[in-house]
Amino acid sequence: MKEKRFYGAGARKLRSVMPLAAAAEQAAARLFPGSGAVLRATGLASPLPDPAGFLCPTERLRLKDITSLKRRRQWLGGRLAVKRAAAAHIGCDAAELAIRPEEDGRPVLLRGGKAEKTCVSISHSHDMAVAVAAAAPCGIDVERISPRPARLAERFSLPQESRLLEPVGDETGYTMLWCAKEALRKAIRPMPGFLGLELCRMEAHEYGYIMAFSTPATRECRCFAAADGTYALALFVGVQGPM
Ligand SMILES: CC(C)(COP(=O)(O)OP(=O)(O)OC[C@H]1O[C@@H](n2cnc3c(N)ncnc32)[C@H](O)[C@@H]1OP(=O)(O)O)[C@@H](O)C(=O)NCCC(=O)NCCS
Repeated sequence: MKEKRFYGAGARKLRSVMPLAAAAEQAAARLFPGSGAVLRATGLASPLPDPAGFLCPTERLRLKDITSLKRRRQWLGGRLAVKRAAAAHIGCDAAELAIRPEEDGRPVLLRGGKAEKTCVSISHSHDMAVAVAAAAPCGIDVERISPRPARLAERFSLPQESRLLEPVGDETGYTMLWCAKEALRKAIRPMPGFLGLELCRMEAHEYGYIMAFSTPATRECRCFAAADGTYALALFVGVQGPM
């Protein structure tokens, strides 16, 4: 089947004026009401600001331990994006904020050294880092579109899900499915396995798709997912509104 590049009724708008993170933030206002979800993205292809300007001393120590150049850029880009998102969500200065990873790697937001109520999530892929800050547990995932997710589909998807991805095409469809399951896994505790999440509905949305999943707790969870031809992005916030 021929691969389609852009999706949803607002696809043209998405391609021409609205980057993925902005599209997801717009969608979130309707899909996750009251969550105040704020998204920010950092492009990693161009130079990042001096880390001394946005990392706290503990974070600067952590940065020293990261030797891979690629990992440093992704980690820094994620920190920049998440602090910008959280500062906008709370209405404070980004310099007051720090991120502490929990034992399992989950990012926790600190303000003045104390854990904040605001929940955050971070993701990076190739030249893009994105983050969300919201009033409820949230998960975000970005992935450069490639044939790999479709090739590895049996590791993370169920056979019955393939039919729902048909209108999108395999390459983008499986990349979006991967992102949506990762976004859910980052937000739900305990973290579910990929095969414990089943895509049961997929509907076109103004800027992308709504992907509805049944979860081990049997509660249906809806993600927003979109693709711009290069990247796919999915967002889940634990406050669910009408479709
Ligand atoms: C966490 C996980 C979902 C990350 O997904 P990924 O596609 O590899 O990478 P992404 O770029 O999308 O996300 C990375 C970010 O996820 C966040 N993250 C890491 N672990 C996480 C967790 N358990 N829950 C939520 N978010 C997590 C981090 O902020 C990380 O970015 P950072 O290291 O720069 O801060 C994936 O690696 C995974 O499933 N890990 C297994 C986690 C687990 O079982 N840990 C148990 C160890 S005790």
